[in-house]
Amino acid sequence: MPSPSVRSDRLNALPPFLFDEIDRKKRERIAAGADVINLGVGDPDKKTPEFIVEAMNRAMRDLVNQQYPAVGGGLGVFREAAARFMQKRFGVKVDPMRHIVALLGSKDGIAHLPWAVTNPGDLVCFPDPAYPVYEVGSVLAACRTHKMPVGADTGWKPRFEQVPDEVARAARICWVNYPSNPTSEGADVAFYERMLEWTQKTWNGGRGCIAASDLAYSELYFGEENKPVSMWQARNASIEDTVGIEFHSLSKTFNMTGWRIGFAVGHASVVSALALIKANVDSGTFNAIQVAGAAALAHHDHADVAAMRRLYQARRDVVVPGLRSIGCEVEVPPAGFFVWARTPVGSDGRRVDSMTFAAKLLEQADTVVVPGSGFSPRGAEYFRVALTVEVERMAEAIQRVGRIRW
Ligand SMILES: Cc1ncc(COP(=O)(O)O)c(C=O)c1O
Repeated sequence: MPSPSVRSDRLNALPPFLFDEIDRKKRERIAAGADVINLGVGDPDKKTPEFIVEAMNRAMRDLVNQQYPAVGGGLGVFREAAARFMQKRFGVKVDPMRHIVALLGSKDGIAHLPWAVTNPGDLVCFPDPAYPVYEVGSVLAACRTHKMPVGADTGWKPRFEQVPDEVARAARICWVNYPSNPTSEGADVAFYERMLEWTQKTWNGGRGCIAASDLAYSELYFGEENKPVSMWQARNASIEDTVGIEFHSLSKTFNMTGWRIGFAVGHASVVSALALIKANVDSGTFNAIQVAGAAALAHHDHADVAAMRRLYQARRDVVVPGLRSIGCEVEVPPAGFFVWARTPVGSDGRRVDSMTFAAKLLEQADTVVVPGSGFSPRGAEYFRVALTVEVERMAEAIQRVGRIRW
């Protein structure tokens, strides 16, 4: 009997999950006994700092923390810690109860935002290439999408003045993400000011475009001069009046990817809409994780976090010259968790396609990278390296890749 077709049109409309094929080949190589160096996955290779684990251990013994979590935006203690983090880290003052919502990781909020603020057919804009969840959330909520092309020529940032007027009129959400996955490009306050100028122009007649910023990598930066800024620092931003929202994650800052905790900070109308969706579809984040998350945010300047930044920087400083030495063009990333590099030029004078590049790396060097075309056809000449293995393994990967002829 043919297998029944159970998938919804929405699910079938999602962009293809291109990492499947690479993942399958990687498992085959590992099963065959190969020593695979995985530079593909964006998951920290170090443990959560001990003070956070301790806070969790204590919190999970309390009865109230074993019961259903607080709905309506999360525990006060977590939201207050998030508000203090915004004040201490970015100088942004917000009301924890009106402007902050706790999330099951920032992905939860990013994927659900369209459910909260769009109607079917509304338009959602995001950079191309970008983290795939902006598109996934929009498609699942039956929105139309507009991809804002970014590339080396635009500094990997959208040019809002080039967005067509009819798109600006119909846009309901505009996503940006700096430091970026996959490009690691950063943004300054002036960039957010341009974005808000653009979104604010769309607000007439009570319906316009919500400025949505994904700041998941805010604490992974290399040098004080590259410290990421918040959209809420823009001079034309006001938490009371600007219809916007910014997403924060504890995943990479504190090596907490598996814990599932993040938060969003934004205009009360957007935050309460998102909290209402969450009250209806999940029952919030495990209270004990929120308590531990509050302890983490209170110590975002902890020595463990600074040490992690140094570790990623040391790895970056091996990968970038290493890739250059084997013919890949690459900018030194100022922040983030990845190196975004251009594939080499082959002996035929043409730049190697990123899928071919990644496949050959796996077959001939037992090294996994993510092909840029996994993010977008615009990434077809690029690949992404995650800074998640030790310096020695990074150097070994570069050596192996250097033996391949293109
Ligand atoms: C740009 C970006 N945003 C958000 C996330 C989601 O992170 P989390 O849900 O773990 O907070 C990721 C994860 O890789 C990411 O790369």
